[in-house]
Amino acid sequence: MSDTHLKNASRRQFLSGAAAVGAGTLAGGAAHAAGDPLIMETQDFAAGLGVGVDETPYGLPIQFEGDVVRRNVEWLTADTISSINFTPIHALDGTITPQGCAFERHHSGAIEMSKDEYRLMIHGLVDEPLIFTYEDLERFPRVTRTFFLECAANTGMEWAGAQLNGAQFTHGMIHNMEYTGVTLRTLLEESGIKPEGKWVYVEGHDASSNGRSIPLEKALDDCMIAFKANGEALRMEHGYPVRLVVPGWEGNMWVKWLRRIEVVENAVESREETSKYTDVLENGIARKWTWVMDAKSVITSPSPQSPIKHGKGPLVITGLAWSGRGAITRVDVSIDGGMSWQEARLAAPGQDMALSRFYLDIDWDGSEMLLQSRAMDSEGYVQPTKTELREVRGLNSIYHNNCIQTWHVKTNGEAENVEVS
Ligand code: MTE
Ligand code: CO
Repeated sequence: MSDTHLKNASRRQFLSGAAAVGAGTLAGGAAHAAGDPLIMETQDFAAGLGVGVDETPYGLPIQFEGDVVRRNVEWLTADTISSINFTPIHALDGTITPQGCAFERHHSGAIEMSKDEYRLMIHGLVDEPLIFTYEDLERFPRVTRTFFLECAANTGMEWAGAQLNGAQFTHGMIHNMEYTGVTLRTLLEESGIKPEGKWVYVEGHDASSNGRSIPLEKALDDCMIAFKANGEALRMEHGYPVRLVVPGWEGNMWVKWLRRIEVVENAVESREETSKYTDVLENGIARKWTWVMDAKSVITSPSPQSPIKHGKGPLVITGLAWSGRGAITRVDVSIDGGMSWQEARLAAPGQDMALSRFYLDIDWDGSEMLLQSRAMDSEGYVQPTKTELREVRGLNSIYHNNCIQTWHVKTNGEAENVEVS
């Protein structure tokens, strides 16, 4: 950080003071740096040659970042074949999720299929049933767009009370990638749709098949058949070689290892859209076809896995916000449990159905905080409190918990998952 980026004199003085402590001196000014051997003396890592280029044909993160990894919650994943793990959102910044630490959810394990073995079939109420090879897909006009994928079960363990201690576990069933592929519309137009066709039923090559019905309107609007993510081939765990992208809609519909698209007249009412991905309300009636992920946000730092280590003074509060209905237009942050709010700074203008990064720079006085963030989207929708959400949805739900999250930051900088009423 250069001085020109520092906002005000107090922040500048504070930071030079911090350097002085690190160097073990008390006086101000350039003498601080002079006393610090890490800048004044040649270190071992610079004493000889570094590692040659051909030793890392495909790079991994440096060993010091070994903590930035997917994790699971043991009591949630008794066996790892039908499983879920979580993105380390507390340790990432910006908006793109690297594939290597993007959460995974499989109903029957990730499968290993080569591009040569890959086939995609479009059939049902079409003029001409078609089978595509991977190479066929590469010859259609291509698009590249960034979207978040959120599992409908994200934050699902928090309905009854504050449970999991970390943004990774409460909100880490999300990732945001730049996808490259062809639009589903392009392929559907290639086979032609009969007038009776009103839905598509999509299924994967894996044993679970994860079949879902998608209204034709959505299929023709913005769905993508993706074969690249963040510039490179999809990883096996994210559906190599081809997955469906259903922008803004629950992750379960983003079928991996996409095998078949059947144009049908009515929804299939498969397992994944009847016994699962529905929520029972207090009156016993289940909500269904809850496809869109409503606006939501979370503070990723400080948070339980990312405590404040530097004591009082300048503090960067940061987090993520997203909406399946459009773009994030505003995020407010509260340090007093929702009694007062300050508008956070969006790192970039919100993009439709993609993650937004927000920052709020404060001068922390070292006292306790009840940190919250509240997202607003381009439809004017405001993220609800937990109490508001429970009033509408009761306590039987698992899916679609988009309520405001609270972290209790203590005077020592440690943070804990809590609820405020
Ligand atoms: N597609 C297939 N074929 N099999 C699956 O088990 N899981 C779904 C969806 N697509 C699944 C699937 C669920 S519930 C989610 S949340 C997302 O994939 C997870 O995508 P990811 O593993 O790339 O994060
Ligand atoms: Co899911």
